[in-house]
Amino acid sequence: MYKRLNVQLFWIALTTLVVTTFVAPVVPQARRRATYTEFPHSVKAHGQECSTCHKFPSSNWKTVRPADQAFPDITEYPEHASCVSCHKQQFFKGTRPNICTICHIASSPKGGPRHPFQNPREAFDKSKKAEKASSDWAVSFPHDKHIDIVSQNSSSSLFRNAHFTFSREPRRMAEESCKVCHQTMSPQGNSDDEFLTKPPANIGDGFWLKKGTFKSSPLGHTTCFTCHSADTGLAPEPQNCAGCHKAPGAKLPVDIDEKILTRTGKLERPMAEAWRLRESSGVFRHEHFAHVDLSCSTCHSVETMKTNEPATMRVSISSCASCHVTAKLDDGGALNYEADMRSKNAKFECVKCHLSFGSKPIPTSHLEAIKAAGK
Ligand code: HEC
Ligand code: HEC
Ligand code: HEC
Ligand code: HEC
Ligand code: HEC
Ligand code: HEC
Ligand code: HEC
Ligand code: HEC
Ligand code: HEC
Repeated sequence: MYKRLNVQLFWIALTTLVVTTFVAPVVPQARRRATYTEFPHSVKAHGQECSTCHKFPSSNWKTVRPADQAFPDITEYPEHASCVSCHKQQFFKGTRPNICTICHIASSPKGGPRHPFQNPREAFDKSKKAEKASSDWAVSFPHDKHIDIVSQNSSSSLFRNAHFTFSREPRRMAEESCKVCHQTMSPQGNSDDEFLTKPPANIGDGFWLKKGTFKSSPLGHTTCFTCHSADTGLAPEPQNCAGCHKAPGAKLPVDIDEKILTRTGKLERPMAEAWRLRESSGVFRHEHFAHVDLSCSTCHSVETMKTNEPATMRVSISSCASCHVTAKLDDGGALNYEADMRSKNAKFECVKCHLSFGSKPIPTSHLEAIKAAGK
């Protein structure tokens, strides 16, 4: 999304530049005009209390999920009343106003069917609207707070569902709880076929996506609302959207290659999203036999992670160093090898861990990791 946005911004900047450079004397500067086909939370006038538009719970919460899985939730668009006070002009513009298509599949005075709401994601992800959609928000899940609380109250049945254990217990036990929210996506398991989709015949040593590369994250409220419910009154309560949904922090560059993504074929939306967020290693595979039994904390520091701040979630090269960086080049470290190749050939691409970063200059973090291994 950010990439697309950047491209858009680039074109806007370019058009503006062309307009101002060549035609500015006659034509006034080009300005982006709102088309009213997408709802941005970022417009200043939209920055009101979430509840002015999102009424919790939605009237359809009992029917969007099977009865035995239903819980009070926000599962429908805001109603007209939350818009018309400011957007009379857009609501009554012509016979087919654009603004209707934010929520309704087609613009018609009769209203008619609506796109599925973004929640539950399972239904939304199958819709046409999902192909272009991206979230305005990032979820804030303070892993550290949950570990502390649960270690003090681990006997309480409240915590049955996401059971972090006492920190003095072995780490592996604590990490059993990670599974409640993070599972291996499309695992290879006992199957012989390691590739997610069929690779082209001429793939050779080239990269192709393997099963079990990504870990999932919660897609919606099912897990959170088992503890944060109106019944428990545990803050943030379900209607306090802003308690969990925050403005996303500064984006980092991502190690992906859109061409490879496209060639791989249509991925399920959560997997494509996870891939597009890879800001350390676009190819790292959790289910690889050498990685799968490692403690999560080898590479992830959940105590310091802020899930709405990408910079705090980056996996450091130092967590790969114990196995992929060696004291000497001859000892076979992948990073040593690639850095050596690069020193001999400025065009050498580092493909072991990367899809797109590998053609950039070697970052200091990598040189330091080699130095540290040499000591
Ligand atoms: C002025 C009305 C309005 C306000 C205020 C508002 N929203 Fe929304 N929100 C909407 C509409 C309309 C949609 C559906 C947009 C769409 O489907 O394209 C939406 C969709 C969402 C979504 C799903 C789409 C996404 O971007 O992830 C989330 C999450 C969300 N809102 C959270 C919030 C939070 C958190 C707040 C308060 C901090 C808030 N909203 C305040 C109108 C509003
Ligand atoms: C408090 C007034 C207010 C409310 C309520 C409000 N808006 Fe807006 N909206 C604005 C203003 C001001 C702008 C920016 C000027 C403009 O583009 O009209 C805007 C812009 C927009 C845009 C154009 C964004 C862009 O730049 O492309 C859309 C689409 C939109 N609003 C949809 C909605 C919908 C849908 C709702 C109800 C869920 C809503 N607004 C509620 C005031 C409001
Ligand atoms: C922010 C989302 C949103 C936008 C924008 C929106 N609608 Fe709706 N519309 C709804 C929701 C939600 C309902 C169902 C309300 C209910 O059942 O109480 C609805 C219901 C209706 C209905 C009643 C019949 C039906 O289909 O349920 C009509 C008619 C309608 N909308 C027309 C329009 C038109 C025309 C526009 C554009 C000018 C528009 N709507 C824009 C959310 C929206
Ligand atoms: C109750 C649910 C829950 C539990 C239990 C949980 N997490 Fe998370 N985790 C989340 C949520 C929510 C996010 C934010 C994901 C997002 O932005 O969509 C997250 C994000 C992460 C991320 C960052 C992913 C990224 O996008 O880079 C890592 C790494 C992570 N968790 C590891 C762990 C580990 C290790 C454990 C066990 C100690 C754990 N989590 C336990 C809910 C949970
Ligand atoms: C050997 C290192 C390593 C170990 C061990 C590891 N991860 Fe990861 N994890 C990574 C890397 C590298 C990424 C990609 C980060 C990026 O590029 O943004 C990642 C990404 C993630 C993500 C984001 C989704 C994705 O796949 O990109 C989650 C969630 C996650 N890990 C959870 C876990 C959990 C839970 C465990 C323990 C069961 C774990 N990880 C063990 C290295 C590791
Ligand atoms: C096992 C029960 C449990 C589950 C499941 C759970 N939480 Fe919590 N959460 C708590 C408790 C207890 C606290 C209070 C922690 C404190 O005050 O230090 C809390 C606090 C929080 C806070 C507020 C921290 C602060 O700064 O005050 C946020 C935000 C939060 N949880 C988000 C989430 C999200 C998002 C999910 C789902 C991914 C989730 N929680 C799932 C028990 C849970
Ligand atoms: C206790 C924490 C919590 C509260 C409170 C909460 N959410 Fe969420 N919400 C989440 C988590 C976690 C996800 C899934 C992960 C993600 O969106 O990255 C999610 C997902 C969603 C989605 C699915 C689309 C998307 O962006 O992923 C929508 C829509 C949504 N929330 C809207 C709301 C609205 C509106 C409110 C307030 C009425 C609200 N949420 C309150 C934690 C919360
Ligand atoms: C063993 C895996 C591994 C190898 C081999 C590797 N990298 Fe990285 N690279 C990482 C990880 C993990 C990160 C993210 C965090 C960091 O920089 O420590 C990263 C980050 C980067 C970044 C982004 C840094 C930034 O600050 O934005 C660039 C550029 C990069 N690597 C280039 C290279 C080049 C060039 C080579 C070959 C000489 C290489 N990498 C070899 C794992 C690797
Ligand atoms: C405990 C040791 C260990 C750690 C830590 C470790 N790896 Fe590995 N990794 C291995 C071994 C062993 C192999 C198999 C031999 C090889 O390909 O180098 C491997 C293979 C790989 C491969 C090739 C996978 C394939 O499918 O062919 C990549 C990419 C990789 N690791 C990336 C990373 C990154 C990135 C990190 C740090 C975030 C990391 N590894 C941390 C031991 C480790």
